[in-house]
Amino acid sequence: MKRVLVLTGGGDCPGLNAVLRAIVKRASQEGGWEVLGSIQAFDGILKNPTEVKILDNQTVAGIHVRGGTIIGTTNTGGPFAWPVKEKDGTWHTVDMSDKLLQKLDQLQIDAVINIGGDGSQRISQKLFEKGCRIIGVPKTIDNDLSGTDFTFGFQTAVQIATEAVDKLVTTAASHNRVLILEVMGRYAGWIALHASIAAGAEVCLIPEIPYNPKKVVARINQRFSKGKGFANIVVAEGAKSINGDVVYQDDFNDKGERKKRLGGIAYHLMHELKEAGLKAEMRETVLGHLQRGGTPTANDRILATQFGVKAFEMVLKNEFGKMVAYKHPDVISVPISEAIDKYNYVNPDSNLVHTARGVDICFGN
Ligand code: F6P
Repeated sequence: MKRVLVLTGGGDCPGLNAVLRAIVKRASQEGGWEVLGSIQAFDGILKNPTEVKILDNQTVAGIHVRGGTIIGTTNTGGPFAWPVKEKDGTWHTVDMSDKLLQKLDQLQIDAVINIGGDGSQRISQKLFEKGCRIIGVPKTIDNDLSGTDFTFGFQTAVQIATEAVDKLVTTAASHNRVLILEVMGRYAGWIALHASIAAGAEVCLIPEIPYNPKKVVARINQRFSKGKGFANIVVAEGAKSINGDVVYQDDFNDKGERKKRLGGIAYHLMHELKEAGLKAEMRETVLGHLQRGGTPTANDRILATQFGVKAFEMVLKNEFGKMVAYKHPDVISVPISEAIDKYNYVNPDSNLVHTARGVDICFGN
Protein backbone atom coordinates (compact mmCIF):
# COMPACT_ATOMS: atom_id res chain seq x y z
CA MET A 1 0.00 0.00 0.00
CA LYS A 2 1.39 3.42 -0.97
CA ARG A 3 0.63 6.54 1.04
CA VAL A 4 -0.11 10.09 -0.03
CA LEU A 5 -0.31 12.83 2.58
CA VAL A 6 -2.62 15.77 1.90
CA LEU A 7 -2.80 19.01 3.82
CA THR A 8 -4.60 22.34 3.62
CA GLY A 9 -2.63 25.45 4.59
CA GLY A 10 -3.30 29.20 4.82
CA GLY A 11 -6.74 30.75 5.18
CA ASP A 12 -9.71 28.45 4.63
CA CYS A 13 -11.35 28.76 1.24
CA PRO A 14 -14.55 27.41 -0.35
CA GLY A 15 -13.61 24.34 -2.41
CA LEU A 16 -10.92 22.85 -0.15
CA ASN A 17 -13.15 19.93 0.78
CA ALA A 18 -14.01 19.33 -2.88
CA VAL A 19 -10.27 18.97 -3.63
CA LEU A 20 -9.85 16.48 -0.76
CA ARG A 21 -12.83 14.44 -1.97
CA ALA A 22 -11.52 14.34 -5.55
CA ILE A 23 -8.05 13.19 -4.42
CA VAL A 24 -9.54 10.41 -2.30
CA LYS A 25 -11.97 9.24 -4.99
CA ARG A 26 -9.30 9.21 -7.72
CA ALA A 27 -6.84 7.41 -5.40
CA SER A 28 -9.38 4.74 -4.51
CA GLN A 29 -10.19 4.28 -8.19
CA GLU A 30 -6.47 3.66 -8.80
CA GLY A 31 -6.26 1.20 -5.90
CA GLY A 32 -3.26 0.42 -3.70
CA TRP A 33 -3.17 3.93 -2.19
CA GLU A 34 -4.02 5.23 1.26
CA VAL A 35 -4.74 8.94 1.69
CA LEU A 36 -3.76 10.58 4.99
CA GLY A 37 -4.78 14.11 5.97
CA SER A 38 -2.41 16.12 8.18
CA ILE A 39 -4.43 18.15 10.69
CA GLN A 40 -3.86 21.92 10.41
CA ALA A 41 -1.34 21.91 7.60
CA PHE A 42 2.13 20.63 8.58
CA ASP A 43 1.34 21.11 12.28
CA GLY A 44 -0.28 17.65 12.29
CA ILE A 45 3.01 16.02 11.28
CA LEU A 46 5.25 18.17 13.45
CA LYS A 47 3.18 17.81 16.62
CA ASN A 48 3.89 15.13 19.15
CA PRO A 49 1.85 12.92 19.01
CA THR A 50 1.30 13.22 15.27
CA GLU A 51 -2.20 14.33 14.23
CA VAL A 52 -3.23 12.69 10.98
CA LYS A 53 -6.52 11.31 9.76
CA ILE A 54 -7.19 8.54 7.25
CA LEU A 55 -9.33 9.91 4.44
CA ASP A 56 -11.41 7.28 2.67
CA ASN A 57 -14.52 7.34 0.50
CA GLN A 58 -16.73 7.33 3.56
CA THR A 59 -14.92 10.26 5.23
CA VAL A 60 -15.21 12.45 2.15
CA ALA A 61 -18.75 11.52 1.06
CA GLY A 62 -20.69 14.69 0.26
CA ILE A 63 -18.07 17.11 1.60
CA HIS A 64 -17.63 18.91 -1.75
CA VAL A 65 -20.63 21.10 -0.90
CA ARG A 66 -19.19 22.22 2.44
CA GLY A 67 -17.01 25.27 3.05
CA GLY A 68 -13.93 25.16 5.30
CA THR A 69 -11.70 22.10 5.44
CA ILE A 70 -12.35 18.85 7.30
CA ILE A 71 -8.64 18.55 8.14
CA GLY A 72 -8.26 22.08 9.49
CA THR A 73 -5.76 24.71 8.47
CA THR A 74 -3.45 27.40 9.83
CA ASN A 75 -1.84 30.44 8.29
CA THR A 76 0.94 30.78 10.82
CA GLY A 77 4.19 29.00 11.49
CA GLY A 78 5.13 26.16 9.16
CA PRO A 79 8.14 23.81 9.09
CA PHE A 80 10.70 26.52 8.28
CA ALA A 81 9.51 28.94 10.98
CA TRP A 82 8.03 26.85 13.77
CA PRO A 83 7.10 29.19 16.64
CA VAL A 84 8.46 28.32 20.07
CA LYS A 85 7.43 30.16 23.23
CA GLU A 86 10.09 30.80 25.86
CA LYS A 87 9.45 30.68 29.61
CA ASP A 88 9.56 34.50 29.73
CA GLY A 89 6.70 34.65 27.19
CA THR A 90 8.81 35.73 24.19
CA TRP A 91 8.61 33.90 20.87
CA HIS A 92 11.21 32.76 18.40
CA THR A 93 11.05 30.46 15.38
CA VAL A 94 13.06 27.34 14.59
CA ASP A 95 13.62 25.44 11.35
CA MET A 96 11.84 22.10 11.72
CA SER A 97 12.07 21.07 8.06
CA ASP A 98 14.57 18.24 8.67
CA LYS A 99 12.39 16.92 11.47
CA LEU A 100 9.39 17.07 9.13
CA LEU A 101 11.16 15.07 6.42
CA GLN A 102 12.22 12.50 9.00
CA LYS A 103 8.65 12.13 10.21
CA LEU A 104 7.36 11.75 6.66
CA ASP A 105 9.84 8.87 6.25
CA GLN A 106 8.74 7.29 9.52
CA LEU A 107 5.11 7.48 8.39
CA GLN A 108 6.15 5.91 5.04
CA ILE A 109 4.70 8.77 3.03
CA ASP A 110 5.37 8.35 -0.71
CA ALA A 111 4.05 11.74 -1.81
CA VAL A 112 2.67 14.97 -0.36
CA ILE A 113 -0.06 17.18 -1.84
CA ASN A 114 0.01 20.68 -0.35
CA ILE A 115 -3.20 22.62 -0.99
CA GLY A 116 -2.57 26.26 -0.21
CA GLY A 117 -1.88 29.80 -1.37
CA ASP A 118 1.29 31.74 -1.91
CA GLY A 119 2.80 31.14 1.55
CA SER A 120 2.05 27.39 1.42
CA GLN A 121 3.51 27.01 -2.07
CA ARG A 122 6.71 28.78 -0.96
CA ILE A 123 6.97 26.09 1.72
CA SER A 124 6.28 23.41 -0.95
CA GLN A 125 9.13 24.73 -3.10
CA LYS A 126 11.62 24.78 -0.21
CA LEU A 127 10.65 21.24 0.79
CA PHE A 128 10.95 20.09 -2.81
CA GLU A 129 14.47 21.54 -2.91
CA LYS A 130 15.24 19.43 0.17
CA GLY A 131 14.11 16.28 -1.64
CA CYS A 132 10.43 16.07 -0.64
CA ARG A 133 8.16 14.44 -3.23
CA ILE A 134 5.61 17.26 -3.13
CA ILE A 135 2.89 18.63 -5.40
CA GLY A 136 1.10 21.98 -4.98
CA VAL A 137 -2.58 22.78 -5.44
CA PRO A 138 -3.30 26.52 -5.61
CA LYS A 139 -6.02 27.89 -3.37
CA THR A 140 -7.00 31.39 -2.40
CA ILE A 141 -10.07 33.57 -2.57
CA ASP A 142 -7.67 36.41 -3.50
CA ASN A 143 -6.77 34.93 -6.93
CA ASP A 144 -3.29 36.39 -6.49
CA LEU A 145 -1.24 33.30 -7.41
CA SER A 146 0.62 33.33 -10.73
CA GLY A 147 0.82 30.32 -13.03
CA THR A 148 -2.94 29.66 -12.99
CA ASP A 149 -5.77 31.65 -14.59
CA PHE A 150 -7.97 31.17 -11.52
CA THR A 151 -7.89 29.63 -8.07
CA PHE A 152 -10.97 27.97 -6.58
CA GLY A 153 -12.73 29.98 -3.88
CA PHE A 154 -12.35 33.21 -5.81
CA GLN A 155 -15.66 32.91 -7.64
CA THR A 156 -17.50 32.17 -4.41
CA ALA A 157 -15.97 35.25 -2.77
CA VAL A 158 -16.94 37.39 -5.77
CA GLN A 159 -20.49 36.05 -5.64
CA ILE A 160 -20.78 36.86 -1.93
CA ALA A 161 -19.29 40.36 -2.40
CA THR A 162 -21.62 41.01 -5.35
CA GLU A 163 -24.67 39.98 -3.36
CA ALA A 164 -23.50 42.26 -0.53
CA VAL A 165 -23.36 45.26 -2.90
CA ASP A 166 -26.80 44.31 -4.29
CA LYS A 167 -28.16 44.49 -0.76
CA LEU A 168 -26.38 47.73 0.12
CA VAL A 169 -27.72 49.45 -3.01
CA THR A 170 -31.26 49.38 -1.66
CA THR A 171 -30.23 51.17 1.54
CA ALA A 172 -28.06 53.62 -0.39
CA ALA A 173 -30.99 54.47 -2.69
CA SER A 174 -33.62 54.66 0.07
CA HIS A 175 -31.52 56.95 2.30
CA ASN A 176 -29.60 58.86 -0.38
CA ARG A 177 -26.35 57.68 1.13
CA VAL A 178 -22.90 56.65 0.04
CA LEU A 179 -22.27 53.07 1.15
CA ILE A 180 -18.73 51.73 1.37
CA LEU A 181 -18.06 47.98 1.24
CA GLU A 182 -14.61 46.73 2.27
CA VAL A 183 -13.71 43.39 0.68
CA MET A 184 -10.74 41.02 1.03
CA GLY A 185 -7.97 40.35 -1.44
CA ARG A 186 -4.82 41.50 0.37
CA TYR A 187 -2.64 43.27 -2.18
CA ALA A 188 -4.62 42.28 -5.28
CA GLY A 189 -7.93 43.91 -6.19
CA TRP A 190 -9.55 41.00 -8.04
CA ILE A 191 -12.53 40.53 -5.70
CA ALA A 192 -13.25 44.29 -5.58
CA LEU A 193 -12.97 44.66 -9.34
CA HIS A 194 -15.16 41.68 -10.24
CA ALA A 195 -17.81 42.54 -7.64
CA SER A 196 -17.88 46.20 -8.75
CA ILE A 197 -18.55 45.26 -12.35
CA ALA A 198 -21.05 42.54 -11.48
CA ALA A 199 -23.02 44.70 -9.04
CA GLY A 200 -22.59 48.02 -10.85
CA ALA A 201 -20.79 50.00 -8.14
CA GLU A 202 -19.92 53.63 -8.86
CA VAL A 203 -16.43 53.52 -7.34
CA CYS A 204 -13.90 50.67 -7.11
CA LEU A 205 -10.69 51.19 -5.18
CA ILE A 206 -7.93 48.60 -5.55
CA PRO A 207 -4.30 48.31 -4.38
CA GLU A 208 -2.98 48.43 -7.94
CA ILE A 209 -4.42 51.93 -8.56
CA PRO A 210 -3.75 54.39 -5.68
CA TYR A 211 -6.74 56.73 -5.42
CA ASN A 212 -7.10 60.44 -5.00
CA PRO A 213 -9.93 61.13 -2.49
CA LYS A 214 -10.78 64.37 -4.33
CA LYS A 215 -11.42 62.44 -7.56
CA VAL A 216 -13.68 60.00 -5.70
CA VAL A 217 -15.64 62.94 -4.25
CA ALA A 218 -15.92 64.53 -7.71
CA ARG A 219 -17.37 61.28 -9.13
CA ILE A 220 -19.91 61.00 -6.31
CA ASN A 221 -20.92 64.67 -6.55
CA GLN A 222 -21.38 64.27 -10.30
CA ARG A 223 -23.80 61.42 -9.62
CA PHE A 224 -25.69 63.31 -6.93
CA SER A 225 -25.98 66.33 -9.25
CA LYS A 226 -27.81 64.15 -11.79
CA GLY A 227 -30.51 63.53 -9.23
CA LYS A 228 -29.40 59.98 -8.45
CA GLY A 229 -28.62 60.70 -4.84
CA PHE A 230 -26.75 57.59 -3.83
CA ALA A 231 -23.53 55.76 -4.57
CA ASN A 232 -21.81 52.47 -3.79
CA ILE A 233 -18.08 52.16 -3.26
CA VAL A 234 -16.24 48.82 -3.18
CA VAL A 235 -12.81 49.10 -1.60
CA ALA A 236 -10.22 46.32 -1.40
CA GLU A 237 -8.67 45.92 2.05
CA GLY A 238 -5.19 46.63 0.61
CA ALA A 239 -6.17 49.80 -1.28
CA LYS A 240 -4.35 53.03 -0.48
CA SER A 241 -4.73 56.68 -1.36
CA ILE A 242 -2.06 58.69 -3.14
CA ASN A 243 -1.40 60.43 0.19
CA GLY A 244 -1.31 57.45 2.48
CA ASP A 245 -0.48 53.87 3.15
CA VAL A 246 -2.43 50.63 3.55
CA VAL A 247 -4.42 50.29 6.78
CA TYR A 248 -3.53 47.52 9.25
CA GLN A 249 -4.99 46.18 12.48
CA ASP A 250 -2.77 45.03 15.31
CA ASP A 251 -3.72 41.48 16.28
CA PHE A 252 -2.53 38.10 17.58
CA ASN A 253 -2.35 34.91 15.55
CA ASP A 254 -3.46 31.41 16.60
CA LYS A 255 0.01 30.77 18.11
CA GLY A 256 -0.17 33.89 20.26
CA GLU A 257 2.35 35.91 18.23
CA ARG A 258 1.67 39.57 17.48
CA LYS A 259 0.56 39.99 13.87
CA LYS A 260 -0.35 42.91 11.62
CA ARG A 261 -3.34 42.21 9.43
CA LEU A 262 -5.09 44.24 6.79
CA GLY A 263 -8.43 45.85 7.62
CA GLY A 264 -10.06 49.18 8.34
CA ILE A 265 -9.70 50.99 5.02
CA ALA A 266 -13.49 51.54 4.84
CA TYR A 267 -13.44 53.71 8.00
CA HIS A 268 -10.28 55.47 6.90
CA LEU A 269 -11.77 56.19 3.49
CA MET A 270 -14.90 57.66 5.06
CA HIS A 271 -12.74 60.20 6.92
CA GLU A 272 -10.70 60.94 3.82
CA LEU A 273 -13.83 61.61 1.77
CA LYS A 274 -15.24 63.88 4.48
CA GLU A 275 -11.96 65.79 4.56
CA ALA A 276 -12.03 66.05 0.77
CA GLY A 277 -15.42 67.78 1.04
CA LEU A 278 -18.03 65.04 0.62
CA LYS A 279 -21.29 66.19 2.19
CA ALA A 280 -23.39 63.06 1.64
CA GLU A 281 -24.09 60.75 4.56
CA MET A 282 -21.86 57.66 4.51
CA ARG A 283 -21.96 54.20 6.05
CA GLU A 284 -19.34 51.47 5.98
CA THR A 285 -19.56 47.67 5.94
CA VAL A 286 -16.61 45.31 6.32
CA LEU A 287 -17.53 42.02 4.66
CA GLY A 288 -14.65 40.11 6.29
CA HIS A 289 -14.74 36.35 6.62
CA LEU A 290 -18.27 36.07 5.22
CA GLN A 291 -16.40 36.00 1.90
CA ARG A 292 -14.61 32.79 2.82
CA GLY A 293 -17.50 30.93 4.37
CA GLY A 294 -20.39 28.80 3.22
CA THR A 295 -20.86 26.55 0.25
CA PRO A 296 -18.68 26.95 -2.82
CA THR A 297 -20.37 27.98 -6.08
CA ALA A 298 -20.88 25.24 -8.67
CA ASN A 299 -17.92 26.56 -10.69
CA ASP A 300 -15.62 26.48 -7.68
CA ARG A 301 -16.68 22.92 -6.90
CA ILE A 302 -15.89 21.93 -10.47
CA LEU A 303 -12.49 23.68 -10.51
CA ALA A 304 -11.60 22.20 -7.10
CA THR A 305 -12.58 18.73 -8.33
CA GLN A 306 -10.48 19.15 -11.48
CA PHE A 307 -7.52 20.22 -9.30
CA GLY A 308 -7.92 17.22 -6.97
CA VAL A 309 -8.06 14.64 -9.76
CA LYS A 310 -5.11 16.26 -11.55
CA ALA A 311 -3.04 16.45 -8.35
CA PHE A 312 -3.38 12.73 -7.71
CA GLU A 313 -2.58 11.95 -11.34
CA MET A 314 0.56 14.10 -10.99
CA VAL A 315 1.55 11.90 -8.05
CA LEU A 316 1.16 8.83 -10.29
CA LYS A 317 3.37 10.48 -12.91
CA ASN A 318 6.01 11.60 -10.37
CA GLU A 319 5.51 15.26 -11.32
CA PHE A 320 7.01 16.53 -8.08
CA GLY A 321 7.96 20.18 -7.56
CA LYS A 322 5.00 21.13 -9.73
CA MET A 323 1.66 22.80 -9.07
CA VAL A 324 -1.72 22.14 -10.63
CA ALA A 325 -2.87 25.10 -12.73
CA TYR A 326 -5.90 26.10 -14.76
CA LYS A 327 -5.00 27.46 -18.17
CA HIS A 328 -8.20 27.81 -20.12
CA PRO A 329 -9.52 25.32 -21.21
CA ASP A 330 -7.06 22.84 -19.67
CA VAL A 331 -5.79 21.82 -16.26
CA ILE A 332 -2.03 21.52 -16.50
CA SER A 333 1.03 21.40 -14.24
CA VAL A 334 3.54 24.23 -13.84
CA PRO A 335 6.75 24.42 -11.78
CA ILE A 336 5.91 25.68 -8.26
CA SER A 337 8.87 28.06 -8.59
CA GLU A 338 7.12 29.75 -11.52
CA ALA A 339 3.86 30.14 -9.59
CA ILE A 340 5.51 31.86 -6.60
CA ASP A 341 7.91 33.96 -8.64
CA LYS A 342 5.55 36.93 -8.70
CA TYR A 343 2.06 37.92 -7.51
CA ASN A 344 -0.88 37.93 -9.86
CA TYR A 345 -1.89 41.59 -9.62
CA VAL A 346 -4.70 43.31 -11.51
CA ASN A 347 -3.18 44.95 -14.58
CA PRO A 348 -4.50 48.55 -14.67
CA ASP A 349 -4.30 48.39 -18.49
CA SER A 350 -6.28 45.16 -18.74
CA ASN A 351 -9.59 44.70 -20.51
CA LEU A 352 -11.37 44.19 -17.19
CA VAL A 353 -10.31 47.63 -15.89
CA HIS A 354 -11.10 49.11 -19.31
CA THR A 355 -14.56 47.49 -19.17
CA ALA A 356 -15.17 48.89 -15.68
CA ARG A 357 -14.23 52.39 -16.85
CA GLY A 358 -16.51 51.85 -19.86
CA VAL A 359 -19.49 51.57 -17.52
CA ASP A 360 -18.45 54.67 -15.52
CA ILE A 361 -16.79 52.91 -12.60
CA CYS A 362 -14.33 55.37 -11.06
CA PHE A 363 -10.96 54.12 -9.70
CA GLY A 364 -10.17 57.46 -8.09
CA ASN A 365 -7.28 58.27 -10.44
O1 F6P B 1 -5.55 35.30 1.75
C1 F6P B 1 -6.87 35.11 2.07
C2 F6P B 1 -7.36 36.15 3.03
O2 F6P B 1 -8.74 35.96 3.25
C3 F6P B 1 -7.08 37.59 2.63
O3 F6P B 1 -7.97 38.07 1.67
C4 F6P B 1 -7.13 38.28 3.97
O4 F6P B 1 -6.34 39.45 3.99
C5 F6P B 1 -6.53 37.26 4.90
O5 F6P B 1 -6.71 36.00 4.29
C6 F6P B 1 -7.18 37.26 6.25
O6 F6P B 1 -6.54 36.32 7.05
P1 F6P B 1 -7.06 35.91 8.51
O7 F6P B 1 -8.20 34.95 8.32
O8 F6P B 1 -5.88 35.30 9.15
O9 F6P B 1 -7.52 37.16 9.18
